[in-house]
Amino acid sequence: AAARQDSTSDSGPVTVAHRGASGYAPENTLAAVKKADKLGFDWVENDVQRTKDGELVVMHDTTLARTTNAETLYPKRSPWNVADFTAKEIARLDAGSWFSDDYKGEKVPTLDQYLKYISKTGQNLLLEHKSPELYPGIEQQTLRELRSRGWLDRSHLSKRLIIQSFNATSVRATHTLDPHVKTGFLGNPKVSELDSYAQFTDQINPTHSAATKDYVDEVHKRKGPLGKRMQVFTWTVNDASTARSVDKAGVDGIISNFPDVVRDATHS
Ligand code: G3P
Ligand code: CA
Repeated sequence: AAARQDSTSDSGPVTVAHRGASGYAPENTLAAVKKADKLGFDWVENDVQRTKDGELVVMHDTTLARTTNAETLYPKRSPWNVADFTAKEIARLDAGSWFSDDYKGEKVPTLDQYLKYISKTGQNLLLEHKSPELYPGIEQQTLRELRSRGWLDRSHLSKRLIIQSFNATSVRATHTLDPHVKTGFLGNPKVSELDSYAQFTDQINPTHSAATKDYVDEVHKRKGPLGKRMQVFTWTVNDASTARSVDKAGVDGIISNFPDVVRDATHS
């Protein structure tokens, strides 16, 4: 069986299954999380947004068009914004068929269903606030849901949860609302800006072409708000040679649709 990994592993970067093991199963569904679990991955990444009636759901695009049958089921609702549909309407969607017939009927999970599922498998969560500027107050709502499922228990908090966003205001809001939560900023701020990011984010998470050794070293020179060396988790690395090069650059985590490919390349 594949060795399990967690963020405290000292034998190489932790591998995170991007939107679940989304190279093998439809992204951001429970099937993709299950696949990551079967392959032995403790860390899964997902994207969170909010429905018209205020439910948090797991979905990458701000519209439902690409990864569900919304266009067929609701033909008059163009452009099928997540924010224009109720949770009940979204629950009727098929989020698996676009990927393959094997996943027909797979659902768009609510954040609550997702948390319940990974609480059972024991997996850890890299949660992304996707386009949070569209959903004012989403950070507080996410934290409330996490708290109610026991995810903000301080004894293991920083080992099982990271909340990230491309939106620095959102990352700062998460940090301010609960300074014990580990945070990540998606992007590659200039080196001259890293000190100010270190006030509110524990990770700087750049695309793999920006994850050079010099840049990773600069990030590592700083401590994040939790008082630990800042980390770099890079994305989206889907081939062995890129995985080896970012590993050489010293990244702490590699986010991948094909996590087994990354693990084989970096933990031989
Ligand atoms: O976790 C990193 C990655 O998910 C950021 O890009 O577009 O896949 O959400 P995206
Ligand atoms: Ca994401």
